[in-house]
Amino acid sequence: MHATGTADGPADRLHHPALTPHGFPTVRPRRLRSSAAVRRLVAETRIDPADLILPLFVREGAAEPVPIPSLPGIVQHTEDSLRRRAREAVEAGVGGIMLFGVPDPGRKDPQGSAADDPDGVLNRAISGVRAEIGDAAVVIADLCLDEFTDHGHCGVLDDAGGVDNDATLRRYAQMAVAQAAAGVHMVGPSGMMDGQVWAVRQALDAEGHQDVSILAYTAKYASAFFGPFRDAVNCSLVGDRRTYQQDPANSREALRELELDLAEGADIVMVKPALSNLDVVHQVAAASHVPVSAYQVSGEYAMVEAAAAHGWLDRRGTVLETLTAIRRAGAGTIATYWAVEAARWLRD
Ligand code: PBG
Repeated sequence: MHATGTADGPADRLHHPALTPHGFPTVRPRRLRSSAAVRRLVAETRIDPADLILPLFVREGAAEPVPIPSLPGIVQHTEDSLRRRAREAVEAGVGGIMLFGVPDPGRKDPQGSAADDPDGVLNRAISGVRAEIGDAAVVIADLCLDEFTDHGHCGVLDDAGGVDNDATLRRYAQMAVAQAAAGVHMVGPSGMMDGQVWAVRQALDAEGHQDVSILAYTAKYASAFFGPFRDAVNCSLVGDRRTYQQDPANSREALRELELDLAEGADIVMVKPALSNLDVVHQVAAASHVPVSAYQVSGEYAMVEAAAAHGWLDRRGTVLETLTAIRRAGAGTIATYWAVEAARWLRD
């Protein structure tokens, strides 16, 4: 049955099941890698443009789009350029658009009042983008206070200067209702307050917004990879978010957060950052009965762009490989600053 190994072959050592007369294996995984056609046929992971979500920044009062140095190629949009970019994303087949507001510094205060002002930068952006693209892609808004508070925390502070969980929930509830009134399809509570999905769901339902869904930032880590984002939204934070965002040392608590978010009514659950937490994406995907999303964050983008600009990495290859890895780990959808470009590559 088994040919005897020769001096040339590995037969004895490997106890290979089927060997050539020279003692080499006949079972060869390389056959399924031997042509582009067969690789395409057997690929387990595919990305569709519809799986991608494009994050977009809009800056209050901007006359021209403002480049963000730590995110090359990404800008703080004007209301007009935002609408144009949203349309381009739809034309490229991108599935969702996630909006972040950058208010005028003079409008920031301890409560983040501009966040639920119908005339605030984010709420205006929501209505502008809805007017532009209608239902052609899902319009999602970040639901968090950090862009709007003068101290830069994701919630309101208590007398001791800590982030007050329950007072923050009341603000998130107000913000959710304002975003729904502006026409958002989906809200993305990203502040990692306990009970945030519950608070947002209650508030939306009480105001008749049963159809607005919740993309919950379920496992969000206190991450150095958010650095460029803080520049992108001109965040005023001094210090860190370690009392509310998860410790990168832990994955068990991601499953606890998942259980709570599902019980509170999350429609989609998200893990972020993506690439440094692929194990968490995998665990969440295995345990979740709602769709799973992952956010390829600003630092992940900046890292690849910087290396590619030096000629140290092949840009397109790296981007598509990271997106594939995130998808393979179990994310159904991916928020990425490369959404439009990647969507075009995927259609080529
Ligand atoms: C909070 C929020 C952050 C990001 C998305 N929503 C920043 C933070 O928690 O400090 C980060 C996104 C990125 O880095 O691309 N509103």
